Amino acid sequence: MKIESTIQGLRAALRQARQAGKSVAFVPTMGNLHQGHMDLVQAARRRADFVVASIFVNPTQFGVNEDFDRYPRTLEADANQLVNAGCDLLFAPSASEMYPDGRSQATTVAVAGITDILCGASRPGHFTGVATVVSKLLNIVQPDMALFGEKDYQQLAVIRRLVQELCFPVSIIGVPTTRAEDGLALSSRNGFLTPEQRQQAPVIYQALRNLQQAILGGNRDYAMLVTAAQAHLAKCGFEPDYVSILSQDLSPAGPDSHDLVILIAARLGTTRLIDNLAFSVTDASR
Ligand code: PAF
Repeated sequence: MKIESTIQGLRAALRQARQAGKSVAFVPTMGNLHQGHMDLVQAARRRADFVVASIFVNPTQFGVNEDFDRYPRTLEADANQLVNAGCDLLFAPSASEMYPDGRSQATTVAVAGITDILCGASRPGHFTGVATVVSKLLNIVQPDMALFGEKDYQQLAVIRRLVQELCFPVSIIGVPTTRAEDGLALSSRNGFLTPEQRQQAPVIYQALRNLQQAILGGNRDYAMLVTAAQAHLAKCGFEPDYVSILSQDLSPAGPDSHDLVILIAARLGTTRLIDNLAFSVTDASR
């Protein structure tokens, strides 16, 4: 696997693959890779001839009081994992390579509407940082397809929207969330949890499953379900940010909605965890 840290070097390395007529799949990451990322790389491997990953802890998607400084940087271990997963090329740029003008870069990409709710409401500017860096990365790599985890449900929706509306010539592929045996969604932030918190953390997934069961059982009183789930999370030591039951396009759900998603963000100590569960209510379960 080749590692490139400049845009010019990356483009030169990709030229060869393109000239050989290879299809290119791209997996953007912030590093500190775990099995969830490996599943993205393996899904990319199955779909394309040439797999590019990037590792860049993007400063513009972190708020002032967020965990940018403590976000783990583990490039060497990450590179080894990528080699084992069959990645062909790693792009690991510096902040000055990606943002030569630093925070004064004049151009940003803002996706209105769907970024006003959920994580967008609690993390102002976060999705503009994500949309901007993803746009830059897609323009740098120019892949045929790019793969993102469904764990970041709203992020995936934002990226699909920007790619569609700005006519990026790339297919966006969502890959199902990888979970630990106890149900906890894999995330680099799980590494911040103390052993006791790690034991508590699967409560989020259990809450999602309980809400799903209640809805499939015919309970469509979303407001009551949300209040009960928030109280349960608080009782288990979490500080819930949101529990939300929406249609899968992130618009409000009605009592007859078929395709639903439940989303939770909650803080456990200093660590903010998110998870979601998308499912369809079939006529048989209504
Ligand atoms: O999901 C992530 O790891 C990041 O938000 C992404 C998409 C790599 C952009 O920095």
